[in-house]
Amino acid sequence: MLDCGIGCGSLSIALNSILPDHVAFYGIDMSAAMLATADVMMRQTGLLPQLKQADIHSIPYADQSFDFVMAAHVLEHLPEPQRALNEMIRVLKPGGMLFVCMTRRSVFGALIQLRWRTWAITERQGVAWLQDCQLADIGFRPVNLGSYAGKASMAFWARRPTKERRKLQTERPTAY
Ligand SMILES: C[S@@+](CC[C@H](N)C(=O)[O-])C[C@H]1O[C@@H](n2cnc3c(N)ncnc32)[C@H](O)[C@@H]1O
Repeated sequence: MLDCGIGCGSLSIALNSILPDHVAFYGIDMSAAMLATADVMMRQTGLLPQLKQADIHSIPYADQSFDFVMAAHVLEHLPEPQRALNEMIRVLKPGGMLFVCMTRRSVFGALIQLRWRTWAITERQGVAWLQDCQLADIGFRPVNLGSYAGKASMAFWARRPTKERRKLQTERPTAY
């Protein structure tokens, strides 16, 4: 699996407890400091991640490399979130799963969006992007991680079909 904008590796570490033992963890991030922290934290939990400093808009892996590709609280920070989404889908194998977690519209979400100038992406917009990418089995739910920040999140998931006809997306998200 590939964790894009892996940060400290929190989501990969959390998912490790529910994924099969043989899963290989890969991660990319723009920040060398974040990657160094992720390496330490993941090794402390017994993971041996393959980490690379890279931009999610240009993922340094071949087409159809991964069974599972995810990004948590990354897309809403990007200048071109849909380009990043297309990159994530490019490196996903047909039949593979995409998982994206983002800030959602809420009082706390509005504070985050004002503080970090992130995109305010709505559920409808997120689902429309995934439909535009010709993805299948699209799902959505608000996420409550039990913290204030957790209440301001939402998650999308979708499968890359084994047979597809992809097209590029053009709609931009709404600025908050
Ligand atoms: C809010 S943090 C989320 C970290 C982690 N995914 C999590 O949920 O804990 C956003 C992360 O995305 C990284 N990031 C921002 N822009 C990026 C880009 N263009 N390509 C790759 N990583 C990026 C940042 O360095 C940071 O580690």
